[in-house]
Amino acid sequence: MTKFRKSLFSPSLTTVSAFLDRIGAKASDLLHKRMKGEAGQAKKHILQPELVFTRVKLLKVMMITFQGSGLQMKEKTEIPLREKNIILIGFMGVGKTTIGRLVGKKLYRDFIDVDEEIEKKYSMAIPAIFQQFGEEYFRKVEKEMIIDLLENTRLKIVSLGGGAYLDEEVRDACLSSGLVFLLDLSWDSWKDRIPLLIENRPLLQKKSLEEIEALFLKRRDAYSLHHSKISTNNLDPEAVADEIVNSVKLSWSLYEPNK
Ligand code: S3P
Repeated sequence: MTKFRKSLFSPSLTTVSAFLDRIGAKASDLLHKRMKGEAGQAKKHILQPELVFTRVKLLKVMMITFQGSGLQMKEKTEIPLREKNIILIGFMGVGKTTIGRLVGKKLYRDFIDVDEEIEKKYSMAIPAIFQQFGEEYFRKVEKEMIIDLLENTRLKIVSLGGGAYLDEEVRDACLSSGLVFLLDLSWDSWKDRIPLLIENRPLLQKKSLEEIEALFLKRRDAYSLHHSKISTNNLDPEAVADEIVNSVKLSWSLYEPNK
């Protein structure tokens, strides 16, 4: 048994450490300790002979083990691509709700608008929530709602409020559990919409055009983390929704052709 363990572990350690580095878990130390013989789940699982035939199997065992051990891993149990939520992000007023609703209809899926969910929960409009509780409180509620939603739902079309995606945890949750589409509009096209938006967008109020433009540009870095970008300049909502649906269907057929 000792001989068997040595030949299995020596070459695999490098592979497993590299794997752990790749997934960003700070688990190498723990893994090494466990492999050296300290009691732990990892050792227990690895020593089951039927689980150790190939490195691939070993890596799978390690993933399951580390999930069980409570370590945060970036690559959790994979959600099949076809079941992943489709998440729409982008600056306020780019059409996430309108387009999300259309995508939902076209794919026969439920549509969830996070702002609407918050409004339902509080029986209050977003500007009133900002006014009564403040932005910080709104962000907390928004974040909790999104994380909970993404952990507990699949197959939905989800539209996020424009500021939600600035939070790193929200971004990570979206990117790891869903297909993230950025609806992108140039400043020149977007600024013409300000009069239509300003009443219901507390963050646009009491700001000069220059300040609003600065906010628009500042958010671009966060929005640049996405799976796909659709430019909505000069496109009507139906056309944008069709583009998203086609792109989603293409990725399904490319990556999960047999389902
Ligand atoms: C916000 C965008 C709004 C809403 C709130 C804050 C933002 O949603 O969540 O007013 O910070 O960009 P929309 O993007 O749907 O307008």
